[in-house]
Amino acid sequence: MPQEIFHITSAGSVDDGKSTILARLLLDTGSIFEDQLGGIDPRSVDATTIADLLDGLESEREQGITIDVAHRFFDSATRRYHIADSPGHEQYTRNMATAASHADALLLVIDARAGLKPQTLTHLGIGRKLGITRVIIAVNKMDLVDYKKRIFTDIKASIDELFPGNASQEKSYEVIPVSGLAGDNVVKRTKRMSWWSGGSLLEALDSFALPRPDRADPVFSVQMVQRVSGGGRRYLGSLLQGHLREADSLSSPRYRSRTFQVTELLASGSKAASATGPAEISVSIDAEVDLERGDVLASPESALEHTDQFEADLVWLDDEPGYPGRTYLLRLGHQSVKATVTRAFGIGADGDKTGQVDSLQPNSITRVNIESQRKISLAPFGTLRDLGRLVFVDPVDGNTVAAGVVNHTLRRGDNIVEHDFSVSADQRAALTGHVGQVAWMTGLSGSGKSTVANEVSVALTEQGIPHVILDGDGLRTGLNRDLGFTEADRVENIRRAAEVAKLMADSGLMVVVSLISPYLADRAHAKEIIGEARFVEVFIDTPLELCEQRDPKGLYQKARQGIIPNFTGIGAPYEAPTEPDLHILPEQSPQQAASQIISILKPAR
Ligand code: ADX
Repeated sequence: MPQEIFHITSAGSVDDGKSTILARLLLDTGSIFEDQLGGIDPRSVDATTIADLLDGLESEREQGITIDVAHRFFDSATRRYHIADSPGHEQYTRNMATAASHADALLLVIDARAGLKPQTLTHLGIGRKLGITRVIIAVNKMDLVDYKKRIFTDIKASIDELFPGNASQEKSYEVIPVSGLAGDNVVKRTKRMSWWSGGSLLEALDSFALPRPDRADPVFSVQMVQRVSGGGRRYLGSLLQGHLREADSLSSPRYRSRTFQVTELLASGSKAASATGPAEISVSIDAEVDLERGDVLASPESALEHTDQFEADLVWLDDEPGYPGRTYLLRLGHQSVKATVTRAFGIGADGDKTGQVDSLQPNSITRVNIESQRKISLAPFGTLRDLGRLVFVDPVDGNTVAAGVVNHTLRRGDNIVEHDFSVSADQRAALTGHVGQVAWMTGLSGSGKSTVANEVSVALTEQGIPHVILDGDGLRTGLNRDLGFTEADRVENIRRAAEVAKLMADSGLMVVVSLISPYLADRAHAKEIIGEARFVEVFIDTPLELCEQRDPKGLYQKARQGIIPNFTGIGAPYEAPTEPDLHILPEQSPQQAASQIISILKPAR
């Protein structure tokens, strides 16, 4: 029987004495050893020294690698604790969220002199959002307020307000008066607060039951596929929960109508008749199907779904806001897939969703509809934590930009089944005699995109090639007339234009798109929608000064006067392409530019 481990994540600032509390926990449970203190007897030093030492270790390590979260272990009389501590300051919230998504309880440290701070509430909100149902709040530095009962009860009362309606439920939070420095009530009970009848912080932790998924339903997530010599496959991965035995029947959300039988189980490298999660095991089944990394095998009754549309609550962790319509990399279980937020809503104090919002602001919690590029296996967080939490990663720099939990699937996704039309896109395209392609022109307002588009159109017409022009001003008077020029609206403007361009290219048309499309991420998304093979990015690289000098619509002048607040190049950014397929400079005449575009499109008959 593996030793029970209770996972905690900590929150609170250095000023509140978080490291002293951690040090005290380690010290008084005998979890700090002499060698870690460079030969000093831990009984002879106080918590501050140890806290300094822990901080010292961190900064040393920080020089080598960036450490987001420090992991420490200590034991109580009944079980082992793992505490994930986020030492950073700047990216504190992000680190805390990463650690919190794996925690059974949140340890919040607050300073008795300061009480609740806005940051404390943010951390509490994030912890709750990520499904932490148990919170232990250490009201620290009681020694500095003369151990006064009044101070503690006032803080406790304001905390109680944050947990309404908890009386009837299993105890979900505890508030304990402590002094990390003096050692009061952290591990050992103190005599200095005779008014306090509760126990120590560690005793309170011990009183939380381990949230054990005691359902016996097995859930196995594939991490690696191994080809076995002589044919067949073996799946290596995590048995997230439940008991799995040889000959058990399992199904995969991806192959709902089928069941598979377990033919062989390997645990710790050797054959086993059964295994109990959580455990790393390998499984063979009686069917020749192609399960891949991220696929899940579970009992046919499981709450798992296979979907590409679902609702989640997201904590936005990046410093830059997120936008519906942008593509991110979604990681859930062992799965990794491109995904976008299709709609976002605020969340009211009652936990219900409020009005629609057009951006995901840093540190805010938003209820979102997510669409993934292919179906994935997932479960509501409440039913299966490991397959109900997710992160969003920036596909360019690999940073985690959001963390969240799955609420439920949006059935809509399951009910939309693309019709299998009998004429393929290729055949339809052949009717025009051409394979449709898209020339996507990007550049500042006044850079000459429309003039070039016009020349392309003239030349294509002469050559008898069917084509269409999609330009910003045109789209904005029809299809996109509900959109303005905020970043969120531009994301949507580009997305719609890309979807239309795709349909038209599918019909065998040459498509000339002329949009400022100022953001790299959105042009990348457009390329993805349309398909890399038939997407040509053309950068009309006319410098701002020249565009402003031309100012064909008098808009730059208005922008300079502050009449148009977020005009591209003045009050809003333009992110130039780094590797356009074609780079058009102002020296080139519109006709020259057009013939270059046509030659790169190479319309194949
Ligand atoms: S995009 O940024 O969303 O790609 P789009 O190409 O559709 O823009 O529209 C740009 C045109 O809208 C410009 O040529 C200009 O005529 C007009 N416009 C009006 N307000 C703005 C603004 N704030 N920023 C840029 N263009 C604007």
